[in-house]
Amino acid sequence: MARYCCRWRNLLLCVCTPFCCLLLFFTYAAVNISISLNGVSSRPERAENVILPVIPTTFWEHHSSAFWNQLQRAVDYHFNPILYSESRNRSAIVHLGDSLLNKSFFEVTNMGHMKKKLEELPPAMQKYVSHMQRRSYPVLIQPDGACGAKARREDQTPFILFAIKSSELNIKNRQAIRQTWGQVGWVQGQKNSSNKEEVGGYVRRVFLLGKEDSHFLGANMSHLLNAENRRYGDILQWDFEDTFFNLTLKDVLFWSWFSRNCGRTLFVFKGDDDVFVNTPKLISYLHEELKKPHAHATMKEFMIGDVIGDAMPIRAKYSKYFVPDSFYKGIYPSYAGGGGVVYSGHLARRLHHISKTVHLYPIDDVFVGMCMLRLNALPIHHPSFLTFDFPSTIKEDPCADHTVLLVHKRGPEQLVEMWAELKRTWTQCRDVPLWAPVIKKP
Ligand SMILES: *[C@@H]1O[C@H](CO)[C@@H](O)[C@H](O)[C@H]1NC(C)=O
Ligand SMILES: *[C@@H]1O[C@H](CO)[C@@H](O)[C@H](O)[C@H]1NC(C)=O
Ligand SMILES: *[C@@H]1O[C@H](CO)[C@@H](O)[C@H](O)[C@H]1NC(C)=O
Ligand SMILES: *[C@@H]1O[C@H](CO)[C@@H](O)[C@H](O)[C@H]1NC(C)=O
Ligand SMILES: *[C@@H]1O[C@H](CO)[C@@H](O)[C@H](O)[C@H]1NC(C)=O
Repeated sequence: MARYCCRWRNLLLCVCTPFCCLLLFFTYAAVNISISLNGVSSRPERAENVILPVIPTTFWEHHSSAFWNQLQRAVDYHFNPILYSESRNRSAIVHLGDSLLNKSFFEVTNMGHMKKKLEELPPAMQKYVSHMQRRSYPVLIQPDGACGAKARREDQTPFILFAIKSSELNIKNRQAIRQTWGQVGWVQGQKNSSNKEEVGGYVRRVFLLGKEDSHFLGANMSHLLNAENRRYGDILQWDFEDTFFNLTLKDVLFWSWFSRNCGRTLFVFKGDDDVFVNTPKLISYLHEELKKPHAHATMKEFMIGDVIGDAMPIRAKYSKYFVPDSFYKGIYPSYAGGGGVVYSGHLARRLHHISKTVHLYPIDDVFVGMCMLRLNALPIHHPSFLTFDFPSTIKEDPCADHTVLLVHKRGPEQLVEMWAELKRTWTQCRDVPLWAPVIKKP
């Protein structure tokens, strides 16, 4: 009897073991395929007159042992559509995001070989890693209960909020912006001879600041900044060190603040405090976008700027953008250059949610690109966002400033001059078109 039993057990083992192995193999393969698919986004409809950059088919290298890749992989497994199906609703996922980012961070940093790898990172990177899982910082100064500086009597939803990355010391830049392109209140769009329709919108403004190292500065700026905020109501400052790698925190914390305070504001401009923006043209342009068919749907993922596609991380050691390959491997997703970018308020709220499932990345505009990819959305390129200045031939043209929505690298004095010039040539240049997007054939 015992032998008989044994034979049956062996037979069962013989049949079942390969079967189980096969099953395991298929599950593994399915999970892997779905993870790879997650990294690839489908190409949205080609918008008229706009070049869409080529989307990289791979994003970060999934199998790489680079630090950031491993961190993100740990999170991605949790959001795998096969392992975790529709039964989890969105808010459950986002709720899970916070603790998951934290958990994966500690798991990965505590792996033996990773400790050694981290010790070999350049000092600035090590400093970054030591704080990269933290993304809640106290607000030190904020506009009084509202969504930034505003006009006294607004009788419509704000049209656009200018959210400008600044730093404690750039007082002159802020002052120049307040007097020029960043003026709050009702702003009229620019009419031309064939289009006499009056369009306009309410503009609001907020400056995003971290903190200067007070030992290094030898002074405490907080009195001055508080006075600035009492006067203008447009300072939003958090208690973190205002360094290049910490700029990503400004995006993440801004989205959260925006979601709480800015209700249905239609658009956000997010940019630096050394750019010139042609606000009237921008307002007209955005009104045109809103008139397009399906605008309601496209606004869900509307982002426009100087889009950089297929970029590789900078591996030159002395660049401020340097990212060693032990930290990140792969190409960057398409992203809009951080000098200045415009997106819809709806997208800002979606970015706020999705950012809870992406590990912070030291280059701010790349991080925004990563979040966009997670939303399966693509930034739209427009050549009138000149994040690298005019070509020298165009500079002399008196109407040059009318052809752009944004130009990068303009000091406070230049801003004031350009603004006066824009007003002076207002009628003369009203029919000058924006820099025409080049339509690339697929
Ligand atoms: C989604 O999940 C959250 C948190 O688990 C829960 O409070 C909420 O009721 C759920 N909503 C739906 C529609 O299932
Ligand atoms: C993050 O995880 C660590 C270790 O697991 C834990 O000690 C810490 O309290 C967590 N922090 C948050 C904010 O969840
Ligand atoms: C700067 O001044 C503010 C208020 O006066 C104070 O709360 C803060 O601690 C000071 N900061 C430093 C680094 O001394
Ligand atoms: C970012 O800010 C935090 C909080 O002030 C600081 O501890 C950290 O070192 C900063 N990170 C970098 C890379 O400067
Ligand atoms: C005038 O503006 C409208 C949209 O605001 C545009 O479609 C049209 O091409 C412009 N005409 C000229 C002559 O610039």
